[in-house]
Amino acid sequence: MHGNVIVGQSGGPTAVINSSLAGVFRTAIDRGAKKVYGMRNGIQGLLDEKYVDLSNYIKNELDIEILKRTPSAFLGTCRYKLPAIHEDQEIYKRIFEILDKLKIECFIYIGGNDSMDTIKKLSDYAMLTGASQKFVGVPKTIDNDLALTDHTPGYGSAAKYIATSTKEIIRDGNGFSYKKEQVTIIEIMGRNAGWLTGAAALAKGEDCEGVDLIYLPEVPFDIDKFLEKVKHLLAKKSTVFVAISEGIKLKDGTYVSEAGGGSDYVDAFGHKQLTGSATYLANLVAHTIGCKTRAVEFSTLQRSASHLASRTDINEAFMVGGAAVKAADEGDSGMMVVIDRVSNDPYQSATGVYDVHRIANDEKLVPREWINKEGTYVTEDFIDYVSPLIQGDYPCVMVNGLPRHLYLKHDDK
Ligand code: F6P
Repeated sequence: MHGNVIVGQSGGPTAVINSSLAGVFRTAIDRGAKKVYGMRNGIQGLLDEKYVDLSNYIKNELDIEILKRTPSAFLGTCRYKLPAIHEDQEIYKRIFEILDKLKIECFIYIGGNDSMDTIKKLSDYAMLTGASQKFVGVPKTIDNDLALTDHTPGYGSAAKYIATSTKEIIRDGNGFSYKKEQVTIIEIMGRNAGWLTGAAALAKGEDCEGVDLIYLPEVPFDIDKFLEKVKHLLAKKSTVFVAISEGIKLKDGTYVSEAGGGSDYVDAFGHKQLTGSATYLANLVAHTIGCKTRAVEFSTLQRSASHLASRTDINEAFMVGGAAVKAADEGDSGMMVVIDRVSNDPYQSATGVYDVHRIANDEKLVPREWINKEGTYVTEDFIDYVSPLIQGDYPCVMVNGLPRHLYLKHDDK
């Protein structure tokens, strides 16, 4: 490699997104990049010429190791939708002027399906104008909803956090008197895909009975049937645990979170903020059945819990970062790195690359056959799929009793 590399992070962060950043940095340096720049807050920051020279922050092996264990986007992230090329050529001219000025050879973007839209548009523009830069995407999202990759970095660690915390919540609830009825509803992220919520099933084992019901967005949610189920369960046991996706919808397509008031916020890609479904359902159970209820929203904890990250996930995140630089350096553009599952037992994976046009803006959902007939739990196939992804741990570097993170002060307004 003769020129420079620039890398950005985009969309919702994960516990391992910085492990991909570390993988990009390491491989770029190993392949001879003169400089590795980091965009502050993705493409949005780049447009304001906000970037850093990463070697000012990653100075040695310890920094690489700490970065791999640092949650959230080290460089800052954004949810910024580039206009279609024919709508606003000026914005593309501006981006390519900046890339030329920085002598960028490889542009690497770590993100989910919306972020792959950015790679798609920039590589299309480069193709149209004959620009030499190569554009490659690194998959990332706790939602695990990217097409053509077996799974996405970030999913395994979020799944591990969800399963662990669900076990702990169940222990807490079951510790009370057998005479005290309580229904606990746990709300899990994932938008329109139930991959994360299904991971609550992992809580079940020889030391835990697991949750009683799991509701994914792939199956329309019926409030009356749900209340019936809960009543039926309470007739047999005093504590009931339910995992629901933030994105569960009624038959008419209304999100349960909207029925409950929710939030009016909509992002640049038209995604509504989904929040409050557990609180809504917990209140409904309290009013109709008349027992104690609790709503637990894992919210951002599930994507930032690097203290509980999966070793498999951290290692794969690092691997896909490196694979993206290699692909771009070898001439690929308009591509995203994917993870292929080579074998399940023992678990082995490898990287490949796919045309980003087949991935951007698509949502991979949980197959219907991996959800039981009633739509109230996931099947063994689902559990076999997710289990290997949560294996192993990656202990934090502890300083003064707390995990140490690599720190880059975020810009204020
Ligand atoms: O895209 C990942 C994700 O974590 C979704 O699961 C969730 O709906 C969304 O981001 C929340 O985004 P924000 O924190 O920007 O509201």
